[in-house]
Amino acid sequence: MRRIIYTSIAAPDLDRAAMFHLLHHARSANQARGLTGVLLRADRRLLQVLEGPTWKLLAVFESIRRDVRHSNVAVIEERSIAEPTFPGWPMRYFDDRKIGDARAFFEARGEGAVSAEVEEVVRDFFVEAFAASAAQVIPSRPRAVRPSSPRPC
Ligand SMILES: Cc1cc2nc3c(=O)[nH]c(=O)nc-3n(C[C@H](O)[C@H](O)[C@H](O)COP(=O)(O)O)c2cc1C
Repeated sequence: MRRIIYTSIAAPDLDRAAMFHLLHHARSANQARGLTGVLLRADRRLLQVLEGPTWKLLAVFESIRRDVRHSNVAVIEERSIAEPTFPGWPMRYFDDRKIGDARAFFEARGEGAVSAEVEEVVRDFFVEAFAASAAQVIPSRPRAVRPSSPRPC
């Protein structure tokens, strides 16, 4: 059994509807192959943990790597594991709006399961995710436009 963790950048047209379409297919494909994992999205940044039987995992990851719906695929961990970290989840998904839940979910399982290096990447991801979700909750206000010429008194 093997685990791959990577980050990537979603293509501009991978919007919410396209994402749910993708997840729908990924989940049934993963279930059929005995793959499990989690996909996180913060703005356009993605982080996916994918695990399962080695050859099935590598074959699916080859398709994922070539998928034009994202780019800049960077593997941050690939190693063999004794047991899946996310058993029972054909592909759990959390986006900006659910990022607090994602962190709790990770903390409950990830403790000690991944290397310090990976933990750092995941932590950075969450920091950016919280910033992205805060920006959505509190949209930045348009700046007040100052009159360019002095106002008549
Ligand atoms: C961010 C991202 C995550 C994906 N995750 C999975 C996944 O977990 N399982 C899966 O089967 N396909 C996943 N896909 C889709 C694959 O890239 C690919 O479309 C799918 O494996 C079908 O490939 P095929 O047409 O070559 O069989 C993902 C795609 C993207 C862009």
